[in-house]
Amino acid sequence: MANKIRMGMVGGGSGAFIGAVHRTAAEMTGDIELAAGAFSSDAVASRAFGVELGLQASRSYGTFAEMFAKEANLPQDERIQCVSIVTPNDSHADISCAALAAGFHVICDKPLAGHLEDAIRIEDAVTDSGLLFGLTHTYTGYPLVIEARERIAAGEIGDVRRVAVSYLQDWLSRDEDTKANKQAIWRSDPARTGESGAFADIGTHAFNLVEFTTGLRITEVAAELRTVIPGRAIDDDGAAMFHLSNGASGLLSASQVCSGAVNALRIEIYGDSGSICWAQEEPNTMTIRHRGQPDQVFRPGANVGYLSDAAIAVCRTPAGHPEGYIEAFANLYAGFARAVRDYPAQNGTGCASVADGIATMRFIRAALTSSRNQSAWTKLASG
Ligand SMILES: NC(=O)c1ccc[n+]([C@@H]2O[C@H](COP(=O)([O-])OP(=O)(O)OC[C@H]3O[C@@H](n4cnc5c(N)ncnc54)[C@H](O)[C@@H]3O)[C@@H](O)[C@H]2O)c1
Repeated sequence: MANKIRMGMVGGGSGAFIGAVHRTAAEMTGDIELAAGAFSSDAVASRAFGVELGLQASRSYGTFAEMFAKEANLPQDERIQCVSIVTPNDSHADISCAALAAGFHVICDKPLAGHLEDAIRIEDAVTDSGLLFGLTHTYTGYPLVIEARERIAAGEIGDVRRVAVSYLQDWLSRDEDTKANKQAIWRSDPARTGESGAFADIGTHAFNLVEFTTGLRITEVAAELRTVIPGRAIDDDGAAMFHLSNGASGLLSASQVCSGAVNALRIEIYGDSGSICWAQEEPNTMTIRHRGQPDQVFRPGANVGYLSDAAIAVCRTPAGHPEGYIEAFANLYAGFARAVRDYPAQNGTGCASVADGIATMRFIRAALTSSRNQSAWTKLASG
């Protein structure tokens, strides 16, 4: 245990959704130990939950500020080295900036922040501190998503000319959905979730997947964001046409009101000589198609004999056994742990970078602006 990377967690308390996934994934790496935490906005509940998880009472903190102050005063070989942030979007910036100022590397869940201005605060804090920052866009941890990126980069489908990406869910498709569910309540409140609803919550995953797999940047959008359920204060459905940095076109749909769609993230990338398709609900299948030829179906597995080194490096199960959601998260944590070990070398964290996160926030801002202007083409601000 002494050699493991020591991690503190903020958020992920009793009844939370993603915190437990992060803890399991971090543990699955075999390289990270949860050493401290401030798990809830309620100080008493936070301390009790840390003890329930098996942490020392002295390192089960009431607030993140207390954790950063007390951990920074511990001997270097005892104090936490990094912080995992799994709180609602509105708090990502304050917690990230405080963690970086106290000298801790940060791994944070998406979206980078609730508002672009807060995201820029994080970027400035990363630059000023010189510390590591990783953003967990889960789907980039799947072996076949990495394989898609490798094959597109190697020219297997030619120059990208069109992308179709959609992320559709139904868990907010009824009015009552945002009244009783803890996760839904804050996601439908602009004060907690930020400037966008569905587009920020899941549209940012779709956006990141496009940029990750194609290696291109989305440069402008023509979007319509809608609130389908009357009385909601924020978008729950929308679509954006977009242009990529090589001149290609695409369409991104993100909606949480599509009855029957549970977690339907799907991407199709068309090049001038072939296409690649991957869907999150069947993550162990990737298809490559060429005109006039039978489809090629790819599966994960270190020993299938045809995957790239990059994909093989993140295969966790024997060929023929499924690689899933938690394995994908674990791959992000494994990359982050390696980066912490290698620090101060900066060879990437295996997660999305703060710049990638800023790009998602510029996308949200441009989509909202476009939508307010009759879906006029709107550039993603640079800088
Ligand atoms: N990568 C993914 O696929 C994915 C999936 C789900 C959620 N997320 C992201 O993870 C984050 C959390 O989402 P969730 O659904 O788990 O939310 P949640 O409401 O289930 O959990 C949030 C937790 O944070 C705690 N918290 C809030 N403020 C705090 C503070 N100041 N200090 C300490 N703890 C605090 C809450 O008490 C709660 O335990 C969001 O940013 C969300 O977008 C990402």
